Amino acid sequence: MAGITDAEFLKKIIPYGFDVVTLGGYSLDLKTIEASQKIIERGRKEFHFQMDEIIPHIEKEVNSIKDFKKEVLVSANVRSSIPEPIIETSKIKGLDIIEVNCHCRQDEILAIGCGQEMLKRDDFAEFISQIADKSKSKVSVKIRGNVLGIDTLEIADIIE
Ligand SMILES: Cc1cc2nc3c(=O)[nH]c(=O)nc-3n(C[C@H](O)[C@H](O)[C@H](O)COP(=O)(O)O)c2cc1C
Repeated sequence: MAGITDAEFLKKIIPYGFDVVTLGGYSLDLKTIEASQKIIERGRKEFHFQMDEIIPHIEKEVNSIKDFKKEVLVSANVRSSIPEPIIETSKIKGLDIIEVNCHCRQDEILAIGCGQEMLKRDDFAEFISQIADKSKSKVSVKIRGNVLGIDTLEIADIIE
């Protein structure tokens, strides 16, 4: 959850038996970083980093978890309006899974065509394919089910 699930939080829950943990959500490109800023201004928590800070920050968080328990798989949930920053983030050493955020329903994220609005993009399949082809980590796509006008099963097929 944005602003909450950092390495410090995840290290508290790993001892309860989790094999996979997810950091984030993190905003990676200019549009999503600006949207995060607006979300913060109305009082909701967000992880908020500038473009040149975010990859080193995630790397530090991944290392902190792996130092704590190296067998745990680490995922990072990310928002971006373009695939390139997601591909770059997937190259972080030790990051096992990159999770593309296609479910967020905060207005500021929807207004820039991200989060669950991603499911409506004409280039959705191409967007995910580019990441799948070039990612160094395993790719996961977190979707919202039952979005009006979207066939969830069709979306699952496209992702597969
Ligand atoms: C305050 C808040 C912030 C959240 N931030 C994120 C996020 O940044 N990335 C993400 O993948 N999901 C985020 N979520 C969604 C949760 O991870 C989860 O998918 C959602 O709460 C659905 O589960 P539920 O139906 O049991 O509530 C957030 C949820 C809440 C309530």
